[in-house]
Amino acid sequence: MRNDAIGVFDSGMGGLTAVKELNDLLPHENIIYFGDTARIPYGSRSAETVMRYAREDVAFLRKHAVKMIIAACGTVSSVVGSQPFVTDMPFTGVVLPAAEAACKWTKNHQIGVIGTPATVRSGSYEKAVAQYLPEAQVTAQSCPLFVHLVENGYTDFHNPVTRLVAEEYLEPVRRAGVDTLILGCTHYPVIRDIIADIMGSDVQLISSGAEAAKYAKKRLIEQDLLTDRTEPGENTYYVSDSTEMFVENAGHFLHRNVVGKVFRSRL
Ligand code: DGL
Repeated sequence: MRNDAIGVFDSGMGGLTAVKELNDLLPHENIIYFGDTARIPYGSRSAETVMRYAREDVAFLRKHAVKMIIAACGTVSSVVGSQPFVTDMPFTGVVLPAAEAACKWTKNHQIGVIGTPATVRSGSYEKAVAQYLPEAQVTAQSCPLFVHLVENGYTDFHNPVTRLVAEEYLEPVRRAGVDTLILGCTHYPVIRDIIADIMGSDVQLISSGAEAAKYAKKRLIEQDLLTDRTEPGENTYYVSDSTEMFVENAGHFLHRNVVGKVFRSRL
């Protein structure tokens, strides 16, 4: 089992921000990624629908030999919450690892969270922060347009549209005086530079996908499940919509061109 792949899924390409971190932290691991690009966005759907999609995504990953599953999607992680979801192998979402990291960083106990409407509606980050640092105040703001801007490549630091939208969305968290801001949706690190510029250099940004990857490494070590291969691991990508569009945009998330096979797959 230790040489099986790590299974990662997201509604689209956002989970690639977790894949990037996994590749850096665990270069010998194989990764199987599923991006449900045909059904994105999940973040503006009901909890029931998100849950159904998430179960189908997990069932898809289970068709391959995987030793751990990462829901690299803030929306899925929020909707799943503490329900038993994957119980026969290590599993993590992004909410708890990101909340824990934010609680370690904050000095003034003012934590901001930005995420999809479903994530913010669920109150998942407030609950998670309360577990680690009950005295912290959380200001959560949903940013529904960010996912579309990112998936369509509006990610340049100087992009006037993305900047205008970001200024509008970030105003409430700026006003709350947060010193730590959780990027509670795995798409947002792609526009991290714009968010950082608007928030100012005193605000620590936490990438939920990257924190989930760090947590996954810890879990695999604890469970003695790290691969014993010494050659570089391989990434294999499956998407439910066009592979061309995926390959074209994935570089924004991975900070390099896609290396590895990309397949189109029906669930
Ligand atoms: N990547 C998803 C998340 O982290 C957002 C995209 C969507 O709305 O499906 O919430």
